[in-house]
Amino acid sequence: METTVTSQSPEETMELGRRIGARLRGGEIFAICGPLGSGKTHLTKGIAAGAGATDRASVTSPTFVLVNQYAGRFDLYHLDAYRLDSVAQFEALGFDDLCYPESVVLIEWADRIETALAGLDYVRIDLAHGPERTRTLHFRNLPAYLAIT
Ligand SMILES: Nc1ncnc2c1ncn2[C@@H]1O[C@H](COP(=O)(O)OP(=O)(O)OP(=O)(O)O)[C@@H](O)[C@H]1O
Ligand SMILES: [Mg+2]
Repeated sequence: METTVTSQSPEETMELGRRIGARLRGGEIFAICGPLGSGKTHLTKGIAAGAGATDRASVTSPTFVLVNQYAGRFDLYHLDAYRLDSVAQFEALGFDDLCYPESVVLIEWADRIETALAGLDYVRIDLAHGPERTRTLHFRNLPAYLAIT
């Protein structure tokens, strides 16, 4: 399904993520796109928290770490493609090995490497700035069991 949700605050964006995270079944891949400061990391932290991730500190600063892994209900991988120069580099990180039925993969700046996702079933989320602290979150290919509205 496809849906658009509006968030009025960083806390609300995290809460949206928590609700998604709590419903995960494993095997999901999220391509999280949107400009600088649109809330990709807040959403990711919420999803991780909702999934029961124990090591939340590891998702705080993905800019300097290409892959953050942490345990919880699933093996959860948080990737940031911002500093990647090519799809080949992304694939060289072992992206394919991260995707399996008991894992959840969250990719910030996924639009930079989207060709690497061809053929995979993934949820695409586009965040955009609205007035003041408003952010819109546009979800595509969201499975019904993850519906948040
Ligand atoms: N409704 C909102 N949802 C999320 N963040 C918001 C919202 N309103 C304001 N903000 C602010 O916008 C910023 C979002 O930061 P965040 O790191 O989540 O964005 P990002 O998209 O991951 O950025 P980057 O591209 O640098 O990784 C934070 O400073 C946060 O406080
Ligand atoms: Mg970020």
